[in-house]
Amino acid sequence: MKTVICGTGSAIPEYRMDNCELSQLVDTNDEWIRERTGIQARHIAKKETTVSLAAGAAKAALENSGISSEEVDLIIVSTISSEVILPCTACEVQRMIGASNAVCFDLNAACSGFVLAYNTAAAGITAGIYKTALVIGSECLSKLTNWKDRGTCILFGDGAGAVVLKGEEGEGRIPFACSDGESGNVLTCKTGLGQISEGEEYMQMDGQEVFKFAVRKVPEAIREVLSRNNIGPEKVDWYILHQANKRIVEAVARHLKEPIEKFPVNMQEYGNTSSASIPVLLDDMNRTGVLKRGQTVVIAGFGAGLTWCASMLEW
Ligand code: UT7
Repeated sequence: MKTVICGTGSAIPEYRMDNCELSQLVDTNDEWIRERTGIQARHIAKKETTVSLAAGAAKAALENSGISSEEVDLIIVSTISSEVILPCTACEVQRMIGASNAVCFDLNAACSGFVLAYNTAAAGITAGIYKTALVIGSECLSKLTNWKDRGTCILFGDGAGAVVLKGEEGEGRIPFACSDGESGNVLTCKTGLGQISEGEEYMQMDGQEVFKFAVRKVPEAIREVLSRNNIGPEKVDWYILHQANKRIVEAVARHLKEPIEKFPVNMQEYGNTSSASIPVLLDDMNRTGVLKRGQTVVIAGFGAGLTWCASMLEW
């Protein structure tokens, strides 16, 4: 049994903050942000929430798939920024979209979260436990951002993306994922439930270390997933990476010796939306007809934990 994506959706907050507006809040400028990151704007939730964005993306994905909410028997929401702890975001989505037959839970693996949620759902479908799954990445990172820290606030944005998965006859794909808890201190954020020092409730990051980690580990993860599935890089149509920094995407393409045209980006419009970035990009590509049935797609995430991962799918 293999898993196929039969619908995509996304929900993006209405309010758009470009680099010029951001440079009025903190000592930075449009040129620096564009050159160092590729980001030109990000969307910030004013009236939206992590839950409402997740439900919006889920509804759009179901509509796109033609599948009814009652048919969904698994909902996984990947998030690090939900305003609800209990009930979990996935149960809130279930209520809002009327997916009364679904098992629902959240998953936190930061920017690797969508790929790991996809793997979890695909494994459940392959094992025959579930038939139809909704996998959602939803984030309001603006709530975890220190708007006085120019090393982080220029990067992040809010949004949600979702995919509908179904099982189909055929051979499943083997994913790759890895974690390194020893290096977790390079990207942190505390809840305030324990003792914290000033500023620790916001994302704190050693940007250069995260950058080096991503450039080293993402190509390794992609090579490993290609090898596990006996596929050469020339057979891959698209590499859809977590959208953190355009220079990371370019460096990964160089390491893999693959043409940059196979590495679509949309961080220029949304910034880094953590676990939402890959499904939002999938949805952009699906709706604009860029993704064609039968194409081979590699998705790859990396981020806090540290965690990194890659999976392969046929469109
Ligand atoms: O989802 C995964 C999460 N995170 C990431 O993927 C982040 C990975 N890292 C990065 O994207 C980059 O490291 C950053 C974009 C965060 C920073 O870029 P960088 O090229 O590593 O810059 P840097 O920290 O080495 O700073 C270079 C210079 C410094 O000035 P001096 O010391 O050379 O005079 C900084 O003070 O740029 C300065 N700088 C800025 N200037 C204008 C740092 N941030 C800014 C800023 N605006 N926002």
